[in-house]
Amino acid sequence: MEIDLIQTWIVKEGYWVHTVAIWGAGTMGRVHAKRYAMTGEAQLKYIIDNDLEKATRLAQPFDAVATVDPGPAVRDPQVDVIDVCLPTYLHRESVELAAGHGKHVFCEKPIALTLDDANAMISTCKSNGVKLGIAHVVRYFPEYEMARDMIASGRLGRVGVVRLSRTGPFPGGWNDWYADPQLSKGLFVDLSIHDFDFLNWCFGPVERICARKVATSRPLEYGLATLRMESGVIAHVEGSWAHPRPFSYKFEISGSEGMIECDSAKTKPLTLLTLAQPSSDCSKNEKAREGGPEAGLGVATSESPLRERDPYLREIQDFLAYVRGERLPRVLPEDAVAALEVSLAATRSADLGEAVKVR
Ligand SMILES: NC(=O)c1ccc[n+]([C@@H]2O[C@H](COP(=O)([O-])OP(=O)(O)OC[C@H]3O[C@@H](n4cnc5c(N)ncnc54)[C@H](O)[C@@H]3O)[C@@H](O)[C@H]2O)c1
Repeated sequence: MEIDLIQTWIVKEGYWVHTVAIWGAGTMGRVHAKRYAMTGEAQLKYIIDNDLEKATRLAQPFDAVATVDPGPAVRDPQVDVIDVCLPTYLHRESVELAAGHGKHVFCEKPIALTLDDANAMISTCKSNGVKLGIAHVVRYFPEYEMARDMIASGRLGRVGVVRLSRTGPFPGGWNDWYADPQLSKGLFVDLSIHDFDFLNWCFGPVERICARKVATSRPLEYGLATLRMESGVIAHVEGSWAHPRPFSYKFEISGSEGMIECDSAKTKPLTLLTLAQPSSDCSKNEKAREGGPEAGLGVATSESPLRERDPYLREIQDFLAYVRGERLPRVLPEDAVAALEVSLAATRSADLGEAVKVR
C-alpha cells in the first residue's frame, strides 16, 4: 500500500518509477517497448541496436535516445532496468554487462544457448545484487494459466497424457540468425522451449525424452518430442517452423476426471492466408503480427485472444514488481534453466536418433 502511494506520487510529480533501456530493436524489442509504455510506470530512455536506423525508428515515438553503444545506458545512474531483446547467442554477454553495472535485467527466452552460460548469468546477477527475469511469456497466457489452475486444483483428476503444439512459419530475424543452428540452436531450443517450460510448471521435472526433427536448408524445421515426466505424466510436444501464418498453439490435457483442450485457431472464426513476401523490415513484421495489410514474414509470435489480459504486458508488470521487491516473479531464472535443459535434451535425442535422459 505504501509502495502504491509512493508510485502514484512519483508518476504524478513527473518522475518515473523505472527508467528502462531496451537492447535489441527487432521483433521482441518492439513488442516490449510498447508494453513498458502501457505500464504507465516506466520511461523508455534508450533504445540500443547495432542498426541505428532501426533503433531510431523505435525510439522516436517514446522520445528515447537511439544508440548503437550500450555504454551510455549501462552507465546512466537513472536507468534501473535493461531489457535484452537481442538474438539468443548474445544474451550472456549483454546480461553480464548490464548486471556488472548494477542494472536489473529482463531478458528474452531462451535464457542462453548452453547451461553453462545460463548458470553464469544467474551467478553474475546474484553477485551484483541485481534481479534477472526471463520472458517465458506462455505462463502469462490466460489459457495456459487456467489450465494450470485446473490441474493444480485436481479438477482433472490424475493427469495421464498431455499434447502440446506450437506452429508457425520460419522466423525471420536479423541476419537470418534463426536459420544458423550455431546461433539459435533450432526449433526445440527456440520454440518448443515454451511448451517444455509449461510442462515443468505444471508437472515438475522431465525424466526422459525421445525426439525427432526434420530440418532442411530452405529453411524449414519440424519436430516432435515424447516426454516422460518424473510424475508419470506422458507428454507429446509438436513444434513447427513449417506452417503458414497465423501462428497457432494447441493443448489437450487428459486426466482421470476430465479433459481440457484449447486451440488458438478456433478462437478466431475467420483466418485469412495471403501470399505474403518475406520482409526484413520490422515495421512490416509488427503489422504482420497484428494481421495488418502489410503482412510479411518476420517472427510470428503467439497472441492471446483475451487481449485485455495481454501476456506481454503482464510479464513485464510482474518483473517490475519483482524489481521493487513486492513479490517473486512467476518465472524464476532457475525455471528458465530447467526449460533449457529439456530443450537441449530434445535436440540431443533428435541428433542421436534415440531416447535420452534429461539429466
Ligand atoms: N517470447 C517470445 O514469444 C519470443 C518471440 C520471438 C523471439 N523471442 C526471443 O527474443 C530474442 C530476440 O528475437 P527477435 O526475433 O526479436 O530478434 P530480431 O532478429 O528480430 O532482433 C534482434 C535485434 O538485435 C540487433 N542486434 C544484433 N546484433 C546486435 C549487437 N551485437 N548489438 C546490438 N544490436 C544487435 C539486430 O539489429 C536486431 O534489431 C531471441 O532470444 C528470441 O528467441 C521470443
